[in-house]
Amino acid sequence: MTPNREAWGSRFGFILAAAGSAVGLGNIWKFPYIAGENGGAAFIFVYLVCIAIIGFPVLISEILIGRTTQRNPVGAFAALTHSKFWISVGFLGVVAGFMILSFYSVIGGWTIGYVVETLRGSLSNFQSPDEAGVLFGKLSGSPTWSLSYHAIFFALTMFIVIRGVEGGIERSSKIMMPVLVSILVILMIRGVTLDGASKGLAFLWVPDWSKITGQAILIALGHAFFTLSLGMGAMLTYGSYMGKRDNVVSASAQIVFLDTLIALMAGVAIFTAVFASGLDPAAGPGLIFQTLPAVFASMTGGVYFSFLFFLLLAIAALTSGISLLEVVVAYFVDERGWDRKGAVLIFGGTIFLIGVPSALSFNLMADVKIFDKTFFDIVDFLASNILLPFGGLMIAIFVGWIWSTTAVRAAVKEGAEQLFDNYPWFERVWFIFLKFVAPILITLVLLNSLGFM
Ligand code: TRP
Repeated sequence: MTPNREAWGSRFGFILAAAGSAVGLGNIWKFPYIAGENGGAAFIFVYLVCIAIIGFPVLISEILIGRTTQRNPVGAFAALTHSKFWISVGFLGVVAGFMILSFYSVIGGWTIGYVVETLRGSLSNFQSPDEAGVLFGKLSGSPTWSLSYHAIFFALTMFIVIRGVEGGIERSSKIMMPVLVSILVILMIRGVTLDGASKGLAFLWVPDWSKITGQAILIALGHAFFTLSLGMGAMLTYGSYMGKRDNVVSASAQIVFLDTLIALMAGVAIFTAVFASGLDPAAGPGLIFQTLPAVFASMTGGVYFSFLFFLLLAIAALTSGISLLEVVVAYFVDERGWDRKGAVLIFGGTIFLIGVPSALSFNLMADVKIFDKTFFDIVDFLASNILLPFGGLMIAIFVGWIWSTTAVRAAVKEGAEQLFDNYPWFERVWFIFLKFVAPILITLVLLNSLGFM
């Protein structure tokens, strides 16, 4: 045991930090566009089911491993098994942290860049999404622009993580998360009060079941993982800074609730505005950087809303970025005896460099392709579609089958005695989902990613 390992200052601080990790580009950029492409309400329903039956049980498991061992992903598996295989599973999580942060920061950088462009007035006179698309192409197509904001995003992330778990991550989350929710409330009110907003609401609430294909279900499942930051030890690491008697189940429920609420609120804010302007909800990844700027440009006071929106995205990305860096830092601090500052500077710097080709994938290296994918696409695909589902599968199998049942039962009840007394069935249901449902469904996602389905 490390005598002076860091810890959260309060339970509330932990919830905000963990929700900050979960709420990210996944909620505000990706969720709306995949919901838009896959038919809206029906897809959202499937997504909610995936969150409940896979996301929630796996989240409890990940946090539980962290809280029990008080270690980073590698140290945690080492403490519980001594098995080389499981230790390498933890190590793969650290590697996934390197990879995800390297490209996440590129998009995170764009969001900061868009805040600045809004203030400079470049976003205020579009007549159509095409014009906004041209500007987007120009900005992301500029190596200087994208590399500078990639660097700024990294500098902010490192600045926070250097200050430690309580003084940096927790403290900044306590400021950023309330700001994020307030901005979202403002944008939602603006959205639903626009003329024609009801079509956007109908898109979100009236299901068209014919849109639900096997493919759509797999997308929903994969996203349930990504959005809850599961499968690479981020939640495990955050859980490792909890006290032994903090309630893991209720904390997980609160994190799931906040993450889902914020994704849905973002959906409402975005689709009411998109439909009110008569634009295409299925615009794909460009929905945020191309369709929305055109929407804002056509609104009275649109600059303010545009500023708030991109600030919201930047905050969401930053609170997720710090959790990714923290996994890497925790590993070097716990296992290799580095001091926090050195670990942040060296590995933050390294991950920044790994991200450079990702930033260049939209310009100088746009034509460098392997299997028709740019560097950015490859890193994103390997991490999000292979490593995360694999990691999630391993966590479900580990807690469901490998870790002794008696120990798991005792651990999950620690601090949650009352909950299990009141709802004795919860334990059984959780185990069933963890042992059978999650592994089977996640395996399907993996096979699909690998092209077998
Ligand atoms: N959950 C974040 C989002 O929705 C992304 C993220 C942060 C993440 N940390 C992670 C994803 C760890 C997987 C693993 O944008």
